[in-house]
Amino acid sequence: MFLREYWYVAALSTELESRPVTRQILGEHVALFKTESGEIVALADSCPHRGYPLSLGTVVGEQLVCGYHGFTFDCAGTCVAVPGQDHIPSRANVRSYPVHQQGKWVWIWMGHGEADYAKLPSTPWLVDTENWSSVVGVARIEAPFRLLVDNLLDLSHETYLHNGSIGTPEVATTPIEVEVDEASHVVRVYRHMKAVECPPFYARTTGLVGQIDRWQDIEYFAPGFYLLNARIAAVDDPPHADGSDDHAFHMKILYGLTPSHDGRVYDFWALARDFCVGDAEVDVFLEKMQTAVVQEDVDALNVLQARSENVPEVTEVSIKIDRGGLAARRVLASMGEPRPSK
Ligand code: FES
Ligand SMILES: [Fe+2]
Repeated sequence: MFLREYWYVAALSTELESRPVTRQILGEHVALFKTESGEIVALADSCPHRGYPLSLGTVVGEQLVCGYHGFTFDCAGTCVAVPGQDHIPSRANVRSYPVHQQGKWVWIWMGHGEADYAKLPSTPWLVDTENWSSVVGVARIEAPFRLLVDNLLDLSHETYLHNGSIGTPEVATTPIEVEVDEASHVVRVYRHMKAVECPPFYARTTGLVGQIDRWQDIEYFAPGFYLLNARIAAVDDPPHADGSDDHAFHMKILYGLTPSHDGRVYDFWALARDFCVGDAEVDVFLEKMQTAVVQEDVDALNVLQARSENVPEVTEVSIKIDRGGLAARRVLASMGEPRPSK
């Protein structure tokens, strides 16, 4: 039912600072926590004793102690202590999932067997704090993964759904270019807007006023990672021939698309910028703005899903702006992602 042999974003590293977090990922309940030495661990979120969520337990040193009767687990999920006896039943171990922290995001490998690190997306902008500042967040959507893919691959919706912040008329009217790398399961969508209005999202942070050149270059690494490379610059001021581009502003807008269970998806996001680095006020502004933008998407997808449950005969009429989304659907289908029957 899910594409399992991939990495998905499971948590923001800041969420794990104080206590364990529970997430349902690809239908499985997972407890994520950070040990006292700083190791991040993901265990099946069900105690083998009576099924109490381990995420309600307590981290003690390098171990997690169940909050019901005290079964105690190490980072590998091995039960190392039970109350009242020395003998530990061999079936008392829980599954441990490979996890990998890259800056503010924690990834989880949901496949069976060895984790494939060659498949781990790279997010250096969340790690290199000298040259990039970032803000992050997560939302849960009561709609399936495929609706979030559709949403992110067609940014023309910014003009209408996000018209007070990032949407301007030209996002919808500028034609897109689409490229598909079938072998690597990557869909690229390019939209280069010339001499367009600077939306509030960028006007407040870059200081650019009036018209700008605004590029939106999407790279969707199916199934779970989406990167929007945004370039904002003065009109007719392209990157230099050698590729350097110091005179422009760059923002990396990252999404982790993590199926929760059937019909639900987590929407992890991160905004990393190479301007106003270290400026806490800009952090606050962007975090607030992006939280509102994501909420607009969440609300729209929740409405769409509720509608499709009530009105099962909804059909689709696709147009040119949908080419990115349709390409993503084809790539996901080629990977074995099941499509809805209707
Ligand atoms: S349910 Fe965890 S120790 Fe009893
Ligand atoms: Fe959106």
